[in-house]
Amino acid sequence: MTLAEKAGQLSIYSDPMRIGTRRQINPDAGPKIDNGLAQRIREGRLIGLFNGVGAAEGRALQRLAIEESRLKIPLLFGADVLHGFATVFPIPLGETASFDPGLAERTARAAAIEASANGIHWTFAPMIDIGRDQRWGRVAEGAGEDPYLGSLFAAARVRGFQGQRLSDADSLLACPKHFVGYGGAIGGMDYNSVEMSEQTLHEVYLPPFKAAFDAGALSTMSAFNDLNGVPMMAHRPLLTGLLREQWKFRGIVVSDYTADRELVMHGVARDDRDATRLAILAGVDISMQSDLYNLHLPSLVERGEVPMAVVDEAVRRVLRVKKLLGLFDNPYRSLDPVVEQRDTHTPAARSLARESARASIVLLKNEGQLLPLRKSSQKIALIGPFGADADNLAGPWSPFSDMKDAVSLEQGLRAVLRDPASLKVVKGCDPEQIIRGGLDEAVAAAKAADIVLLALGESQDMSGEAASRADILLPAVQQALAEAIVDVGKPVIVLLRNGRALALEGAVRDASAIVVTWFLGTETGNAIADVLFGDHSPSGRLPVSFPQSSGQQPFFYGHRNTGRPQTNPKDPYWKTRYRYVTHEALFPFGHGLTYSQFRYGEPEVGSGKLAWDGAITIRTKLTNIGTREAEETVQLYIHDRVASLTRPVRELKGIQKLKLAAGASRVVSFKLTRADLCFYDAAMNFIAEPGEFEVWVAPSATAGTPKVFVLEGSPLRP
Ligand code: GLC
Repeated sequence: MTLAEKAGQLSIYSDPMRIGTRRQINPDAGPKIDNGLAQRIREGRLIGLFNGVGAAEGRALQRLAIEESRLKIPLLFGADVLHGFATVFPIPLGETASFDPGLAERTARAAAIEASANGIHWTFAPMIDIGRDQRWGRVAEGAGEDPYLGSLFAAARVRGFQGQRLSDADSLLACPKHFVGYGGAIGGMDYNSVEMSEQTLHEVYLPPFKAAFDAGALSTMSAFNDLNGVPMMAHRPLLTGLLREQWKFRGIVVSDYTADRELVMHGVARDDRDATRLAILAGVDISMQSDLYNLHLPSLVERGEVPMAVVDEAVRRVLRVKKLLGLFDNPYRSLDPVVEQRDTHTPAARSLARESARASIVLLKNEGQLLPLRKSSQKIALIGPFGADADNLAGPWSPFSDMKDAVSLEQGLRAVLRDPASLKVVKGCDPEQIIRGGLDEAVAAAKAADIVLLALGESQDMSGEAASRADILLPAVQQALAEAIVDVGKPVIVLLRNGRALALEGAVRDASAIVVTWFLGTETGNAIADVLFGDHSPSGRLPVSFPQSSGQQPFFYGHRNTGRPQTNPKDPYWKTRYRYVTHEALFPFGHGLTYSQFRYGEPEVGSGKLAWDGAITIRTKLTNIGTREAEETVQLYIHDRVASLTRPVRELKGIQKLKLAAGASRVVSFKLTRADLCFYDAAMNFIAEPGEFEVWVAPSATAGTPKVFVLEGSPLRP
């Protein structure tokens, strides 16, 4: 390979020919390669393309590489397939509310089948950044605030995308992103700097990546952010020291979009050439969109500023991944128009979309058992910007969604009502704008109805990349609509469409029933109807805490106690809290109601002693004391009472989902070992310290009464 050809294998570009049909998802940047694309392929000056789809078109591009280039190295086609391809599943944050990693694996598998049928080999997913500041627009793409839950979902989505064998035509190379710490952006402001301790980095933000790589992910994307002053694109200690030398990661590292060139803006590179040098030496194998590697790597090597061996190693990794994907054996894998026709929009995918959407719905409140609704003999007013809406079903990062026959909330409700005419739909306002006369029309509809469904929330462009919000309130126009509707005095059920936790206020917060529906994708309306009318009991749990107020962000359950914790909301003085704002979640992580009720027996911890190299079993009897079958998500939390560093007040260490018939009981047991109690001490040793631990088996991060067990010291330790 010539040096130019090597640089080519380390350069990827957004497909100029095929992305035009979709919404813009990246800023305009990089070289205009549209008219020179064929020549660039013939010269071998790209690893492949991303976000271009279509088997036939991809086949034509691949033919150019295989038949008209000197080395005949097959192209690699990537894309942002996060939560479905043409058939859209709930946004990842929403699906994480299922607390069912197996479900996430199945939807990732379905997405891989559809995306690979449409000419994709590599997905820039799963997005596994921990999100603890809900102002950050990209919380929507991840698995929420907790590293344990985030790790389970990261591994599950990698398994789903990559399937049995990477060389299978329906397998996608997974790309857990964004390595690392992106979700810790100060103020939740996208692209902002990140400052965190080594302990927090290793205990909160890195575990999902370790889980993803342990699950076999063979690529990762380095993040935009600087971490403690070092931009990730130049972070050799993490990209090479940790990732390659410690974790023995053998996959490929791709930069985020023009992130290598942004080293100049970060102020650590003098110019593009310097940025190129820093990125390749840090361990970034592939340059995305900026063209810097093609432009500058050859001269950097010729002048001895970058060893040829570094370039060769990066190229070797790229070619190895292409080989593992089966592209050398069959360059036309995943480029078959017949398969594209067969495997896109299958009934199985739609059925799974409905199942995953249902499982993602979280019932926060249900005072007076307003839910489930009757399917007949009542007049329902569906009021709000998201009642009939069909433009905000897919959610952010669904560039290939084909929503032409997606099911809106209105359509889903009408489909199950005995008399569809009993549903009156009034928008009342736009997501962020007043509709002249809309409020009066909505009030009139509420007055004429027996019950009101208020469909409120965020439009999908209020979440995702470059969509951080300075507050996490409902838009004022929607709050005003809610106040007016609640004043009418009819029973009100709030349905939220949201990409993050929201700070609920006034009539919305006080509504008798509140249902979180995230962005649920293709089967939105059917899934919500399945739950609202009781064909399925809600089972979702919050993967992010709903706070009292926007001002509390970042807000998460796994915080440290501080020296003056608020233990009694009625004793607000000299405590860790804001004036007039109790520092509890309005609805905590892990919270979610069903249409039944569950009683948790007192946890049993056996002898209450955990030997240094032993295990302890925690048991609780769970009983469905309600009147119908329902699925409960039982959560296990610990707290290290005294340690050499302050520890979180609770840490999730286990989840189990149990479907129990009315009146049925089952003993739930969890096992803990010392490994579950380890943390990074002041010297960054990953250790457990002997002493007392509290343990909860509970339905949320703030529920339950703890039991205590003791980790006994090792005979070898003081
Ligand atoms: C974007 C995103 C990244 C995405 C990439 C390609 O800037 O940060 O998640 O995969 O560019 O679209």
